[in-house]
Amino acid sequence: MSVPPLDVTEGVVRSACDPADAGDRAAMQTVLGIESSCDETGVALVRFGNQGVPELLAHALYSQIEMHQAYGGVVPELASRDHIRRVLPLTEQVLAESSRDLADVDVVAFTRGPGLAGALLVGAGVACALGAALGKPVLGVHHLEGHLLSPFLSADPPQFPFVALLVSGGHTQLMRVDGVGRYQILGESIDDAAGEAFDKSAKMLGLPYPGGAALGQLAQSGDPAAYKLPRPLLHSGDLDFSFAGLKTAVLVQSKKCAAAQGCAVHDLPQATLADLAASTQTAIVEVLVKKSLAALKLTGLNRLVVAGGVGANRELRRQLNDACASLGVRVHYPELHLCTDNGAMIAMAAAMRLQAGIQSASADYSFEVKPRWPLDAICASGTMLNPG
Ligand code: KG4
Ligand code: ZN
Repeated sequence: MSVPPLDVTEGVVRSACDPADAGDRAAMQTVLGIESSCDETGVALVRFGNQGVPELLAHALYSQIEMHQAYGGVVPELASRDHIRRVLPLTEQVLAESSRDLADVDVVAFTRGPGLAGALLVGAGVACALGAALGKPVLGVHHLEGHLLSPFLSADPPQFPFVALLVSGGHTQLMRVDGVGRYQILGESIDDAAGEAFDKSAKMLGLPYPGGAALGQLAQSGDPAAYKLPRPLLHSGDLDFSFAGLKTAVLVQSKKCAAAQGCAVHDLPQATLADLAASTQTAIVEVLVKKSLAALKLTGLNRLVVAGGVGANRELRRQLNDACASLGVRVHYPELHLCTDNGAMIAMAAAMRLQAGIQSASADYSFEVKPRWPLDAICASGTMLNPG
C-alpha cells in the first residue's frame, strides 16, 4: 500500500481568490471535513462566518463499493486500508478545486463515530496529524449529526425547529430538532434499520451490495401490491420501527415464488423479482411515511427534514412529498449526491457547531474514536462543549 506524500508547503495550488473575497477572509473560517466511517472516503472544504449558512467550497468522494461487492458487504480491514490510500489525494483534489491550500484551513474536522473502528481511526489520525502539522485545531464530529445537518447545504435549507427522519444504513430515527445540538429522539428502530431492510432484501433477490438503490430501481417496474408483506409496528402507537421481521417475510415470499417456479430465487423471472422489490419497497416506505406523519402530528411542527442514504429513495420522496403537501408541511432533503456518506456533511456539522458556539475545536491532537455513539450523547444539556 503506498500513500502519496502530501507536502504541506509545496505541491498544492496557491490560493487564487479574488480581492473582494480576500476582504472577507478575516471574518470567515474554513473547515476541512474528513469522513471515513464506513465504505466512502469523503473530503470537503466549507467556509463560514458569524452569520449566514456555511458555504461548501468543494468536496470529493471515493466510494469503495465496487471493492466490497465481491464479498457481499463491507470488509472492515479492506475499508481501513482503502481510506488510507484515498484520503490525502482527495484532500489535494478539494484544495485544488477550491483554489485553496492547507494554510487556508482554520479547523480540521473528522468523523469521530459511530462507524467501523479501523476506518474511523484513519480519518481521525489524518485529521489530527494535519492539525498538528498546520498548528490548527481539530474537531471530532458525530456522523449522524452530519447527515442530519446536510440539508443545510441544499438550495432550499430548512429552518429550526423541524422533525427529522434519519434513515441511513445503520440507523432509522425520528427526532425533534430545535437547533444545532438540540435533538430529541422520538422513536427509532429496535432492530434492523430501514437501510438494512433494503440491503438485506436486495441481497436475497440477487442484487449487488449495498442494494438499496438497486432495489429501488428494480421496484420501478414492479407491482407494489403483488405480494402482501408486513408493515412492522405500523399501529404500535409509538414512533419506533422494526424491520427485521420484514426481511424474513421477504425471504419466505421469495422462496415461495422460487418453489412455484421450480428455480432458485436469483433465477426468478425479472418481472417476479421486480414485483418482490416493489412490494418490499412499498412496505418500508409506508412505515417510514406514516410514522413521520405521526411525529409531525405529535410535535405540532410543520417542517420535515429527511436525511441519510435511504433519503435518496425516489418512492419515499414521492410519497412524503404527496402526504406533506396535503398537510401543508414543508419537506427538505439534502442534495441527492449528499444523501449518502460524504465529507461535506462533516465539515458542515463542524462549521454549524462552531458557529452556534456549542463546541470549540481543540489543539489537543490525541484522539479516540467512538464506533458506538448514540446521537443523544452529544446533546445532553450543559455538557455540550467538547462532548466526550
Ligand atoms: O447514510 P448512508 O450513506 O450510510 C450510513 O451512514 O449508513 O446510507 C447507506 C444506506 C444503505 O443501506 C443504502 O442501501 C441506502 O442507504 N440507500 C438507498 C438508496 N440509496 C442508498 N436505499 C433505498 N433507495 C435508495 N435510492
Ligand atoms: Zn452515513
